[in-house]
Amino acid sequence: MDKLIITGGNRLDGEIKVSGAKNAALPILISTLLVDGPVTIRNVPNLHDVTTTMELLGSMGIDLLVHECMSLEIDSRTIKQFFAPYDLVKKMRASILVLGPLLGRYGKATVSLPGGCAIGVRPVDQHLKGMEALGAKINMQNGYIEAYVDGRLKGAEIVNDMVTVTGTENILMAAVLAEGTSVIKNAAREPEVCDLANFLNTMGAKISGIGTDTLVVEGVERLHGGEYRVMPDRIEAGTYLAAAALTRGRIKLKNAAPETMTAVLEKFTEVGAKITTGDDWIELDMEHRQPKAVDIYTAPYPGFPTDMQAQFLALNCVADGTSNVVENIFENRFMHVQELKRLGADIEVHGNTATVIGKPSLVGAEVMATDLRASASLVLAGLMSQGETSVGRIYHVDRGYECIEEKLSQLGAKILRAPGK
Ligand code: UD1
Repeated sequence: MDKLIITGGNRLDGEIKVSGAKNAALPILISTLLVDGPVTIRNVPNLHDVTTTMELLGSMGIDLLVHECMSLEIDSRTIKQFFAPYDLVKKMRASILVLGPLLGRYGKATVSLPGGCAIGVRPVDQHLKGMEALGAKINMQNGYIEAYVDGRLKGAEIVNDMVTVTGTENILMAAVLAEGTSVIKNAAREPEVCDLANFLNTMGAKISGIGTDTLVVEGVERLHGGEYRVMPDRIEAGTYLAAAALTRGRIKLKNAAPETMTAVLEKFTEVGAKITTGDDWIELDMEHRQPKAVDIYTAPYPGFPTDMQAQFLALNCVADGTSNVVENIFENRFMHVQELKRLGADIEVHGNTATVIGKPSLVGAEVMATDLRASASLVLAGLMSQGETSVGRIYHVDRGYECIEEKLSQLGAKILRAPGK
């Protein structure tokens, strides 16, 4: 397994491009299952999770063509299987997203249950409740969800018990071709949910309330082919901003979407960074100062994203002062704490709160990635550790960060990928 070897202490300074958003690309690629014609999706990030999605669609018999710069052409009319196997679902939980579109368009789907994962239990009860409300019959058999409906799904009012991103997306995709109107209340407002809804509308769906907690979906008979460009990745952008902030550096991000990052950009201002934004760019300048410690409280959008918690925790480890980082979305999302401690970080965890006492720098060591964003926090911490830090199990990083070592090197970091045992 490959490792990333980082020699810490370099102040980052430079310009990079933000990739397309993983969490928007996955549902959009999967939602092409609903479309009756060829679709071209641009700005797709080159990531392991995208490869897994292509493998999943390919395993169903769907035609996929990869053009230059990860522009994907997909025609789902060649579908032969309505099945998502355990092997692929356990690799990538987002595979559960095939349930809604398969039911909506073909009236049947067999999808493996995802099971637990490193950051918590993550049940899918809300997805299933939504499908049943739309008229699907669901059976659980041998670890699989078997769902079917006679004829078309029927529009209904659905109130989600909690804000769930993929739950909202799954129900939305199921409702698009249903008969009549569906109302999804307590819907997730994450920009990636909006991007999926905008994609579906571009293909002929009738969704309103996009960006609010109530989505209204007027069912249509069919979606037509077309083209769409995936939104920029706000989590990747935030991760590189954090890398620059904790090394007391400067960064300009191009192809970014600052309007999707208000809560995160406010935190960077609190840290002491000078933030400037344009329509599609963000600049952060620490002007060589040590960041100030900031309290973090994760919440659904527009609150501070749980997917940026680990990166800010790493930043707080090398900040001036003491901070509390409170994780409210996932029950076990502090796996990076033990690894950060190996680099000399001073962190205590009580329940869902991590208290961090900052220091000027950490000390390099061998650490291990446990999940996607945790692995990013270890890379960030390595940038501000004296000597060498080796981050193992970086397949987690590759699930969500395109060319991380190239992008960080471009900013002046000393980082290389080494084949591990
Ligand atoms: C998505 C993102 C992930 C992000 C998370 C929260 C994708 C592919 N992944 O994950 O990067 O960290 O949103 O912003 O977009 N829950 C239930 N029952 C359900 C569904 C969810 O109890 O049926 C709970 C979860 O356990 C969790 C909370 O709801 O505690 C929010 O999870 P959810 O928004 O569903 O996360 P994902 O969509 O899996």
